[in-house]
Amino acid sequence: MKLPPFEIEHFFRQHEFSAPHGISSSDCEPLTLPEILDYASPARRAQFENLWLGYTESQGHPELRRAIADLHEESISADHVLEVVPEEGIYVPMKALLNEGDHVIAIFPSFQSLYEIGRGIGCEVSFWRAQCGERGWSFDIDALERLVRADTKMLIINFPHNPTGALLERAEFERVVDLARRHDLILYSDEIYRFAEQDPATRLPSACELYDRAVVLGGLSKCFGLPGLRVGWLITRDAGLMREMQDMKSYTTICGSAPSEILALIALENAEALTARCVSIVRENTVVARSFFERHDDLFRIHYPGAGTVGLVELTADMDVSEFADGAVREAGVMVLPAKIMKFEGNYFRIGLGRRTLPGALELFEQYVVDTLR
Ligand SMILES: Cc1ncc(COP(=O)(O)O)c(C=O)c1O
Repeated sequence: MKLPPFEIEHFFRQHEFSAPHGISSSDCEPLTLPEILDYASPARRAQFENLWLGYTESQGHPELRRAIADLHEESISADHVLEVVPEEGIYVPMKALLNEGDHVIAIFPSFQSLYEIGRGIGCEVSFWRAQCGERGWSFDIDALERLVRADTKMLIINFPHNPTGALLERAEFERVVDLARRHDLILYSDEIYRFAEQDPATRLPSACELYDRAVVLGGLSKCFGLPGLRVGWLITRDAGLMREMQDMKSYTTICGSAPSEILALIALENAEALTARCVSIVRENTVVARSFFERHDDLFRIHYPGAGTVGLVELTADMDVSEFADGAVREAGVMVLPAKIMKFEGNYFRIGLGRRTLPGALELFEQYVVDTLR
């Protein structure tokens, strides 16, 4: 299987560690090692400090799998959980469960691997496209229904959504799950931005709680502020799907990183505090962003995400967004991700509201905006 370049990763490789500032990151402010250890109980700290650095259990540390299951309803147990590196949690199920010639429906725009791996395998991929209206970004479930074919094998969704920040209403989400059930589809639900809803009442159930042929991706990279742990998980109640994914994982990482597993356990034992921290950073940054975009509402249009860390901004000024973003990094040292990198047409860029450095970066960005567009 030959895959085309992963453009967003290429873009971040180019700029993430060289551009001094950024306004497009998708993670919440990462914690330091001392910060996460401060959350540890004395027993966990001792476990971390005396850790044996051997291979770990391939399905994941049993306590960690239990802690992941505990984030969900009772119907989910540790046996339904496979620990993975988050991005591996896209590669493994696609490679394990899809075959050449299968028809797949994928949400679009989206994180490239969500649809590109299926295409690389030789699947035919139809896109379920985001729409932007007066009230923000939405997805039309009747349009999704029209995409389903007799040979459709998998439906790939991602809520809260990267990059629009869209979140379905509960009734809409249940319609999507019902559609997958009626057509006997594997429902791959990327829920990596779950748990940081501005209004907790809007949190959707996890697809794995509603449907046994759902495969859910979750992880600590975004709303828990721990992307460097490289800890994520796949959940399914279907034993056959789980077996195939577990077998495929033997060809990728085999097992998790021992120190990361213990740090992940500490994180999950403090899940509420860590996700509340993310919500609060996003809330504070949204106030700053609102004031910025109100000052420049003749140049930009934005719909703020109700959940997760990212949203899309439309550059309504008469300038191509790629050129605009090139100038921002070159002249102001501010990395801005044009949505074209995510193959999304239109003059959009992504804003990330999760980093504590956003207000400072927006000040530099504002200077660039004034110099370039005023
Ligand atoms: C929707 C989505 N899924 C999965 C991932 C993969 O997470 P990670 O980069 O931590 O491997 C990302 C990362 O940006 C993402 O945005």
